[in-house]
Amino acid sequence: MMLPDTPENENVFTWAAPPLKFGAGAIDEIGAEVAARGSSSCLVITDTGVLATGFPSRIAENLRNAGITTEIFDGVGVEPTDLSIEEAVTFARQREWDCFVAVGGGSALDTAKAVNLLTTHPGELLDFVAPPIGAGKAPWLPLKPLIAVPTTAGTGSESTTICVVDLLGLHLKAGVSHPRLRPSLAVIDPRTTLSLPSQVTAASGMDVLSHALESYTSVPYDAKPAPDDPMRRPAFCGSNPISDVWCETALSLVGKNLRRAVHNGRDMHARTQMALASTYAGTGFGNAGTHLPHANAYPVAGAVKSYRAEGYPEMPMVPHGQAVSATAAAVFRWTYPADPARHLRAAELLTGRTFTATDGKEALPHVLSELMADIDMPSGLRSFGYDESDVDTLVDGTLKQTRQLAVVPRSLDRAAAEEIFRQSL
Ligand SMILES: NC(=O)c1ccc[n+]([C@@H]2O[C@H](COP(=O)([O-])OP(=O)(O)OC[C@H]3O[C@@H](n4cnc5c(N)ncnc54)[C@H](O)[C@@H]3O)[C@@H](O)[C@H]2O)c1
Ligand SMILES: [Fe+2]
Repeated sequence: MMLPDTPENENVFTWAAPPLKFGAGAIDEIGAEVAARGSSSCLVITDTGVLATGFPSRIAENLRNAGITTEIFDGVGVEPTDLSIEEAVTFARQREWDCFVAVGGGSALDTAKAVNLLTTHPGELLDFVAPPIGAGKAPWLPLKPLIAVPTTAGTGSESTTICVVDLLGLHLKAGVSHPRLRPSLAVIDPRTTLSLPSQVTAASGMDVLSHALESYTSVPYDAKPAPDDPMRRPAFCGSNPISDVWCETALSLVGKNLRRAVHNGRDMHARTQMALASTYAGTGFGNAGTHLPHANAYPVAGAVKSYRAEGYPEMPMVPHGQAVSATAAAVFRWTYPADPARHLRAAELLTGRTFTATDGKEALPHVLSELMADIDMPSGLRSFGYDESDVDTLVDGTLKQTRQLAVVPRSLDRAAAEEIFRQSL
């Protein structure tokens, strides 16, 4: 059979996700899972807030009952920094571990990925961060099994190849991404999210929404140039038919359940649906990629002044979900011309209402603002203490996020990025 000539554009997309266990009771199977992998020692990695829920100790007990030597490290930094990761790595290096179990939100899961990388490889985290921020090395040795147990809904980090770190010296967040960082198993037990404070539920729920929306509107995989080396395709390949399915389902679940989960944290149905949405969005964006709201979120979080967020530890921080949603409305107003039908469809999935071309570019930003107001999210960058004089610094940070910028659906110049930040003040 004659095949058409290889096109100059990309013609192939990739998709990968870890095996997962989902459902009430899933965390009680972790001991058996670790034993089945032939591991005899395991470090449970968590933060003090999550430790207080009792779930990490319950998992440690389950591991010990399966004959596995287990210790808990509860020193994870919320929104981990290079410094907090170094502390975790120093702790983990005290002995050789066969396996890691991360219990918590994205902070614990990402810290465990970094611990796994830096206890199996020489060097420091910056060696593995993408250029121009870091040296962009790829891990070359096998990593240990990592079981990821998310307790927020959530970052989707249990499915992704990504580890996000706040680089304190640079006042900038950045990501390390490589297929070897992807957890070996995701264990999602929606009961673990019942204790989430409402503001963490709101912010991490907006993160789920943004993962799905950004992947869904990212540049189509076949609008990108073909790679020079087919074995080194980027982890973010752009929107594609498989990621689209996960993202559409996630949007509809968030639209139906996020308000409920925020307003009644004990609503087990809403919690379960949000845990599912987070998993769907994670498996979607972990392949298609996130774009500008996430690229903007990194400098917004990294350049924090004195803002403190209710429900989070008492320290200056802009939680990831708040940082991501702060510029989302302005971004989706700007990306609208790239694919109006997708933006309108997303607004429909989030609301169950019908939108047509006459609703235009304001439809989706309006739906986002409405939802954010209903769940009491901060609505502009001024809430975090930023003003006009910060726009240059924020744009500089965004323009360094090469992984996300590669899948933005329109070509972004400095003036466009500035306008998006100004509209978001
Ligand atoms: N790797 C990825 O793919 C990816 C994607 C998005 C975000 N991130 C990163 O993840 C981090 C944010 O993670 P997050 O939003 O999941 O929150 P988090 O892990 O930072 O946790 C937020 C707060 O909630 C508490 N908490 C978590 N689960 C709880 C529970 N069940 N009950 C009570 N309290 C609980 C924690 O102790 C903490 O104080 C950021 O650093 C962000 O950059 C990573
Ligand atoms: Fe995110």
